[in-house]
Amino acid sequence: MTAPDITLQSLIEAALRVRENAYAPYSGYGVGAALITPDGQTFTGCNVENASYPAGICGERAALVSAVSDGVQTFDTIVIATQNGGSPCGICRQMLFEFAPELRVVCVDAGGTIVIDSPLHELLPHGFGPHSLPRE
Ligand code: THU
Repeated sequence: MTAPDITLQSLIEAALRVRENAYAPYSGYGVGAALITPDGQTFTGCNVENASYPAGICGERAALVSAVSDGVQTFDTIVIATQNGGSPCGICRQMLFEFAPELRVVCVDAGGTIVIDSPLHELLPHGFGPHSLPRE
């Protein structure tokens, strides 16, 4: 395996691991996300549901909020682990697009098999970002 392969493999393992912490008693659909910066810093998150359903948060946004809270805003790749390799929801695409339109989005199933591997801007074409807001 080449160095980038090893990095991707360890990011997949991190996403699978954090998925084990998912709090998803209502949907039963656990999500783990692992975000990596260009210099190799990794942030993880899982979905955290709530009895008041809309109050829950997705795994991708949990990882993103953790990174931004640590002062990190530049990202290279996100790995999202679910049972079936499902793609990120629209709200998560939008939140990630703010910081990293070029982000590599890799979705894996529970066995770590890659189901989607695509740049974020292809998952959110013509996305609305910071540069969409005209400055007076
Ligand atoms: N979920 C995520 O964590 N990320 C997504 O991109 C899609 C959906 C969560 C929300 C909820 O806890 C469960 O998966 C079922 O929708």
